[in-house]
Amino acid sequence: MPKIVYVQPDGTETALDVDAGTTVMRAALAAGVQGIVAECGGNAMCATCHVYTDPSDSDRLPAVGDDEDEMLDCTAGAREDGSRLSCQLPITEAMEGLAVRVPREQV
Ligand code: FES
Repeated sequence: MPKIVYVQPDGTETALDVDAGTTVMRAALAAGVQGIVAECGGNAMCATCHVYTDPSDSDRLPAVGDDEDEMLDCTAGAREDGSRLSCQLPITEAMEGLAVRVPREQV
């Protein structure tokens, strides 16, 4: 059960032990993590599940898909190198300890 750490803009951290197979977005919603809105329910159509990952973690994340890439240009918070849609990040054992930063603005 990998641990995923959500970091709020003020530095507050929420660490969740999550079943592999769920997404970083769904785990956040289930636990009430602030700042993950997910208006479209995980269909890569709203960009309100935007998170910042550390670019050094890119090797253990799935590649950015075309739909995700397009939506990442529509995020409320500025897009950065490690920007991802958390609904497009299915959790795997390889993601143990992954930290994602929640943007200051999500809508
Ligand atoms: Fe809408 Fe991720 S939940 S893009």
